[in-house]
Amino acid sequence: MPARKTHALFFGSVLLLGSSQLMAGPSASMLANTCAGCHGTNGISVGPAAPTIAGKSAEYIKEVMDEYKFGDRHATIMNRIAKGYTDEEIALMADYYAALPFESAASKQEFDSAKVEAGAKVYKKNCAKCHDENGSLPDDDSGILAGQWLPYLQFTMADYRAGRSEMPKKMRKKVEKLSDEEIESVLQFFASQE
Ligand code: HEC
Ligand code: HEC
Repeated sequence: MPARKTHALFFGSVLLLGSSQLMAGPSASMLANTCAGCHGTNGISVGPAAPTIAGKSAEYIKEVMDEYKFGDRHATIMNRIAKGYTDEEIALMADYYAALPFESAASKQEFDSAKVEAGAKVYKKNCAKCHDENGSLPDDDSGILAGQWLPYLQFTMADYRAGRSEMPKKMRKKVEKLSDEEIESVLQFFASQE
């Protein structure tokens, strides 16, 4: 391709990008660049410090971002981050991450296999109604627990139980009846799901 043509194409696309940005604001993938440092490329977190966010329903992601924004969900960092985005930007990112496939962390993390069976029973009795298909179904708008990083599940549950984050009322009724050991086993069960 002659050099002049390449230049024309290059500047042409820069101009196009510039004007569409001015009109429509940053695109979902540009916004998501900020999240990738902690939540991994494509929302698959590579370490236990941040949860995998790919594949959860857009409805769920929007709700959680709102909870962070308004302080209804305890966070070390997400409350400050969520405050930096408009509802429109959050909706764009929610759609973006919801469309990406979830990937289980089960093969990348240690879990206590001795507790998994007891955890499955706790799950069936107390959690299955809302966290469908072993906590893997995004359409229930309750997140994805199957194959999530275990430390994230543990501190999120600790925040709920200590009242630092607000639980859905019917979930709280179930959780309040369970012992520390039962809670721990059900989290091990989720962490073990491929
Ligand atoms: C500096 C690291 C960091 C960055 C950057 C970051 N996050 Fe997070 N995110 C976390 C951590 C850690 C948590 C767990 C809550 C907490 O402690 O803040 C979390 C939790 C979440 C959750 C809740 C997941 C669940 O299962 O309920 C969502 C959704 C989320 N982040 C979305 C985003 C989006 C969207 C962005 C980009 C705008 C982003 N995060 C940027 C670290 C980060
Ligand atoms: C009545 C429905 C319901 C029941 C029963 C229920 N949950 Fe939930 N759960 C939800 C909803 C809805 C959310 C999302 C809450 C939010 O927006 O913060 C959630 C969120 C969670 C989260 C946080 C997910 C994340 O990615 O941050 C964990 C962990 C969890 N539930 C565990 C459990 C366990 C363990 C049980 C059984 C002992 C249970 N839940 C029972 C509805 C339920």
